[in-house]
Amino acid sequence: MTDDTDDTDDSRRERTGEAETTPRVGVCYFPEHWPRERWETDVEQMVAAGIEVVRMGEFAWGQLEPERGQFDFEWLDTAVELLGEAGIDVVLCTPTATPPKWLVDEHPEIRQVDADGTPRAFGSRRHYCFNAEVYRRETERIVRRVGQRYADSPHVVGWQTDNEYGCHETIQCYCDDCAAAFRDWCRERYEDVTELNERWGTTFWSQQYRSFAEIDPPRHTPAEHHPSLLLDYARFASDSVVDYNRLQTDVLREIDDEWFLTHNFMGNFPTLDAFDVAGDLDVAAWDSYPTGFAQDRRLGAVTADRLRAGDPDQVSLNHDLYRQIGAGGRGTDAGGDTGRTDAGGGSRGTGAGGLWVMEQQPGDVNWPPHSPQPGEGAMRLWAHHAVAHGADTVCYFRWRRCRQGQEQYHAGLRKHDGSPDRGYEAATRLGDELPAFDLGGVDAPVALLFSYEDLWALSAQPHAPEFDYWRLVGSFYRALRGRSVQVDILPPWAPLDDYAAVVAPTLHLVAASLARRLESYVDRGGHVLLGPRSGYKRPDNRLQSTLAPGPLASLVGGRVEQHESLPPELDSRLRYAGETYDYDTWAEWLTAEEGSVIGRHETGAAADSPALLANEVGDGRVTYCGVQPGADLADALVSTLLDGAGVSHTARFPATVRVAERDDHTWVLNFADEPVTVGAPADAEWPVGSPTVPAYGVGVTTAPAATLAPPG
Ligand code: GAL
Repeated sequence: MTDDTDDTDDSRRERTGEAETTPRVGVCYFPEHWPRERWETDVEQMVAAGIEVVRMGEFAWGQLEPERGQFDFEWLDTAVELLGEAGIDVVLCTPTATPPKWLVDEHPEIRQVDADGTPRAFGSRRHYCFNAEVYRRETERIVRRVGQRYADSPHVVGWQTDNEYGCHETIQCYCDDCAAAFRDWCRERYEDVTELNERWGTTFWSQQYRSFAEIDPPRHTPAEHHPSLLLDYARFASDSVVDYNRLQTDVLREIDDEWFLTHNFMGNFPTLDAFDVAGDLDVAAWDSYPTGFAQDRRLGAVTADRLRAGDPDQVSLNHDLYRQIGAGGRGTDAGGDTGRTDAGGGSRGTGAGGLWVMEQQPGDVNWPPHSPQPGEGAMRLWAHHAVAHGADTVCYFRWRRCRQGQEQYHAGLRKHDGSPDRGYEAATRLGDELPAFDLGGVDAPVALLFSYEDLWALSAQPHAPEFDYWRLVGSFYRALRGRSVQVDILPPWAPLDDYAAVVAPTLHLVAASLARRLESYVDRGGHVLLGPRSGYKRPDNRLQSTLAPGPLASLVGGRVEQHESLPPELDSRLRYAGETYDYDTWAEWLTAEEGSVIGRHETGAAADSPALLANEVGDGRVTYCGVQPGADLADALVSTLLDGAGVSHTARFPATVRVAERDDHTWVLNFADEPVTVGAPADAEWPVGSPTVPAYGVGVTTAPAATLAPPG
């Protein structure tokens, strides 16, 4: 294990694999929504704000090709030219998220079909199926055409493929093309249908298949579908997007291999394995809407502060995940360890690194249940937060509030009359501040293991309405961030030797090879904190033949005798290190074998049985937590892990104040509506702000994160 405190700047850069960059502000622009006479003014106002990047074109198929074969590029040429001449870099998008009416009418079979057989109609966006043969041909045609058009433009620096794959629950489609493609996917994955029957376990409820041709997508049924079918369908659907994205990146690379290629992923997005998609991208980007996420995909309660500025941990969990997705999960090989046949993953690990926020919330937005105005300063705070977690470019969505269409209630940097909105002030301030930074990468001593396949398997059988993979991951992640520790979020198959400690909130699907890898990491001195529901299942989504944690039993030094899912009405507490802690939703009654009991249940039928185990293995140590921990228990376990692994950290910060370190700068980010004063070494320099950070404000110091102290 490396001792991070001894790193020189150069070795740190080598480890993070990133050159120094000066972060930039950008914006998403839709010239097609505005009269041409306005464009020059728009560009002047962008330049005045310090905007250096513009993204365009993601929904413009209808403007670019109003009738089959009749192209109109003149308007986009003009916009690209205007921006480029003003010194702004242009990122164009392939317009495939919105197949136009003429195409849908010509080929209604390109539409997605819901599980109940209802086709998704024209009239919004993302109404196409990734496996529709016709649509794949049409995609290749339009991508080639737009790509060729801008191959010689000095202003177009990169491409975003499509827009937010899977938005509006569109990863899984149930049409006939998908049925045929799923059968082929199964044929590739299984030797024959007998093997499929055995691995899934189809003797349950008479579900045996006599041939691959009999297998259907999990369409509408009276009761739930077979969990092994559900998991394979989730894998297949994700692989279909990987394959569809590759269709686009292959064409773009063939035209010009100097462009960078990216895609704008979404926050806490469950149904697409972004590690796999990023194997074909150079940069990972995601779209961050903190106050919306605090309502519709939250990790915790909706508080007044979160409604004004978002939940910092929910947001940075995505920064840390996509930063690693952009880096190809630290350059690893394919994921055989989890049992994947890797039918779609392909060139995993080629991501050259780099993180962008392609869409940053600019103010109030149209889609969450409520849209309070963000707190004063929040739009600037979010950009600094992103930069602190590794972002090189932060683009606000959108330039100007639109006067037509579905998103009229969505703010832009400018109001719909063209005057500056609150976000414009934030962007302008950043345009002044960011050029002063010269930043390498984030150097994280701790890895948190994240598996889309575990997420899919657990979503198929959550066993409690409150059980949520993101919340489980979030509770451990929040504890790490509360102690100001930088975290890399990695797939279970990533190499771990660079990390002093590893947190695995759960490893649900476990093959023997994954267990061996972790054993060897611990044996060589690694420290692991492992959460509940680990080792329950084989990669086929069937229970292991031994009690949980199955192949991880010798690592954990014990077994799960019993488990229960718990509604909020049942008290659930345990005792650990002389204190009582709350937990919720999930409890395991453990038995120690080689390991020792370090915590016991205090409540309910579990009272007195072991809930937490510790096990020394070789030079390292494993702690197993058999519950969904409350915030205090997660903090207690994480701080013990950090101390044991020699990772320096702060005392626990309040949930609204976060400290993040990137290269030789440390950000103090205040997500609350009151100013806070943090403790800092007397000689600390503050290139931005001071130790007293205003409400929704930022301070940046050259003091290392671990030297700061929580307010008061
Ligand atoms: C994103 C999407 C944008 C826009 C935005 C509104 O999900 O990519 O096109 O709809 O949300 O917040």
